[in-house]
Amino acid sequence: MTRAAAPPLTGEVNAYEDELARYLGVTDVVAVSSGTAALQTGLYAAGVRPGDRVIVPALTVVMTVAPVVALGAQPVFVDCNDDGTDFDLDDLTTHLDDAAAIVPVYLWGRAPDSDAVHHLAARRGIPVVVDACQALGTMIGRTHAGLDATVGCYSTHQLKLLSTGEGGFLATDDSEIAATARAYRSHWLPPPPQSAPASRIAHNFRLAAPLAALGRAELSGLDEQISWRTEQTLLLIRLLAQVKQLEALVPPRQRWNHYAPVFRLHLDRPRAFSEHLAALDIPVPNSTGTFKLIPLDQRPMFADETGPRCTTAATVLDTVLAIALTRADDHTRIAQYAAIIEQEVHRWVDA
Ligand SMILES: Cc1ncc(COP(=O)(O)O)c(C=O)c1O
Repeated sequence: MTRAAAPPLTGEVNAYEDELARYLGVTDVVAVSSGTAALQTGLYAAGVRPGDRVIVPALTVVMTVAPVVALGAQPVFVDCNDDGTDFDLDDLTTHLDDAAAIVPVYLWGRAPDSDAVHHLAARRGIPVVVDACQALGTMIGRTHAGLDATVGCYSTHQLKLLSTGEGGFLATDDSEIAATARAYRSHWLPPPPQSAPASRIAHNFRLAAPLAALGRAELSGLDEQISWRTEQTLLLIRLLAQVKQLEALVPPRQRWNHYAPVFRLHLDRPRAFSEHLAALDIPVPNSTGTFKLIPLDQRPMFADETGPRCTTAATVLDTVLAIALTRADDHTRIAQYAAIIEQEVHRWVDA
């Protein structure tokens, strides 16, 4: 595919986008400087403007909601289902009126087990902008996770399966959204059809050309990285299979990218246990213990007089151990993690 390069961009970025689009089976990819920028650009291109209400799960990282707030929109937090893979559909339905967008988040690489959200959104004409920042490589049937939506947004931060150090991209089959996104990432240059150059205030969310070159090299090894992460995750799950206080949560009906091994903890004070693991001599890095993940509606900046409402999200985060693996974690390291977790579970139970 040939395409005129925007003035500040280079052929390297165009080639990276074209190769990603081919890999993902979409018409358009727009490379940007981070996953956060991908979400902000995707939301803007999907029509989100100041004052709009945007549905965000309580069960996610702050990076999902920051772009919503940056656009001047109002996040509306919705609770999750019991295993945290989807919205609580009843709660979602009661918040859909006047929503300008829905932002499902495929945390730990896990996609939902049904497309109920897409049906609800389609019936009301609400765009769905998926935060698939952790989910590159997860597939539902033949579709890449995040691409059954209006826009899918991905991060290529250094911990991701495809890494450019910092970076991200959005993917869509909607050419108007893609044109608006290309304009928004680069000071409205080039403008979308029927719009004048630099006629709107936008951003510099461009991906630097050397990072695009790195992305192209990474993309050629992406399937290998997904296989490696799958091997790492399945090894940890297998090594811990006899520990009855740990229940491995494996999402059904998808090719999961195995981004992070996830266990439900059947222990007293499970969050304290995750924090304890994160603080050991060889820390076992995990979402709640290391990164202090709490539901968005519990974060002080979103607190209001009614208090946190998303109780299932709170329970999931309090009771789940999601290990943050890296590509450098070899079999020896993973065996160390497993041994530490097993030993500390037994100590916790005996204490
Ligand atoms: C679920 C999720 N959303 C958004 C982001 C933001 O991506 P980035 O760090 O590339 O801005 C991340 C990155 O860690 C993420 O994991």
